[in-house]
Amino acid sequence: MKVKAYRFSISWPRLFPNGLTEDINAEGVEYYHKLIDLLVANGIQPMVTLYHWDLPLALGDQGGWINREIVGWFGDYARFCFEEYGSKVKYWITINEAYIASLHGYCGQGEEFAPGGFKKNCEWSLYLAAHHMLLAHGRAANIYKKEFQPTQNGVIGITNLAVWYEPLTKEDEEVAKRAFEFQFGWLTHPIYGDGGDYPEVMKAKMEELKEKEGRAKSRLPQFSKQEIEELKGSADFLGINYYYGFLTSREEQKNSDLINMTTLDQWERDASMFSYYDPKWEPVGDNNSWIRNYPDGLYNTLNFVKTNYANIPVYITENGCMDTPGEDLRDVTRLRYLRNHINAVYRAISDGSNVKVYTAWSLMDNFEWNFAYGIKFGLYRVDFSSSDRTRIPKQSAEWYGRVVLRNGLLDY
Ligand SMILES: *[C@@H]1O[C@H](CO)[C@@H](O)[C@H](O)[C@H]1NC(C)=O
Repeated sequence: MKVKAYRFSISWPRLFPNGLTEDINAEGVEYYHKLIDLLVANGIQPMVTLYHWDLPLALGDQGGWINREIVGWFGDYARFCFEEYGSKVKYWITINEAYIASLHGYCGQGEEFAPGGFKKNCEWSLYLAAHHMLLAHGRAANIYKKEFQPTQNGVIGITNLAVWYEPLTKEDEEVAKRAFEFQFGWLTHPIYGDGGDYPEVMKAKMEELKEKEGRAKSRLPQFSKQEIEELKGSADFLGINYYYGFLTSREEQKNSDLINMTTLDQWERDASMFSYYDPKWEPVGDNNSWIRNYPDGLYNTLNFVKTNYANIPVYITENGCMDTPGEDLRDVTRLRYLRNHINAVYRAISDGSNVKVYTAWSLMDNFEWNFAYGIKFGLYRVDFSSSDRTRIPKQSAEWYGRVVLRNGLLDY
């Protein structure tokens, strides 16, 4: 497809099966050297994510992300990667989607994503896990900036999931704003926002809940002054993964033809909101799909970043959808989804947004966590039954290759 960059993640347990840097798996280290060398030899920039949710089991047994020691463990692992690969890798992403990793790994939906099993303490474990992910990002980014950036000249950032919340009615504008601050601002404002720290509306809401629940302190952990300073500006760019947006209401919508996307999980109850899809938004995938073709949400997210986070350079690190049944290799729904979203990026850039990078998710059918290989996001199909894992381009791959060649859409 003539892409100029390839984003992939390093598996922490593959390098360090026991989690700590004293016990190296040399074959794992060599594997990534080979991959990176081959990319560079072909003129493709490697973009490396250090944590895309695979946690060494030994560290998971110590509580994983709810154990504060992980900030140091992650820092050591990151330093090793910068030392080992930093002469060849110029784009570093610390953590992928801390929102999903904390909510699905450390809360009520914990059966879905590793490590799981935190249902009981969900009301605080999800905020604590995310807090430590932010601190771990800060630790790794500051190590990079102090010890490696001056000689290696790369850049570092975090990748956050953005779910856009559109108010259902005029009366829902406040809840829609709060929802976006709870979802996106939560993990973005401490790094990129004016003054750092968690968003004011989130702190206020969690404070209100503290009173209501009669707790001694807020379930949202507090940063020290020094931590706020260390996190502020600890990134050269903001990575954004975007897939969908919701209509949001302060009230439950009964007897409406809206599609109910409310989960009523701990996080959603804390944010006091209800989420829906407009039935007019084009569905992608099968009936259980969580994605709709709603490119305005991406446009609005990019505008929000421009206004609220000092127009920091944005790398769109994921955007795409799963196969729609019945389309086979003629994946016209994916093609339409990608075209609409790339066009939304173009509109945002035209309006002053600082987008520097767009990478589709995903090059090829991939392991989709608890769905395993049952949901396919690839522009290339992978034949998992062949020993070569044969790759076959879908229609969108050929189309995307032409977009890359032109660095823009051809048919708009
Ligand atoms: C929406 O879905 C949630 C979660 O499954 C459920 O608890 C709630 O009752 C549903 N609301 C309506 C109006 O159907």
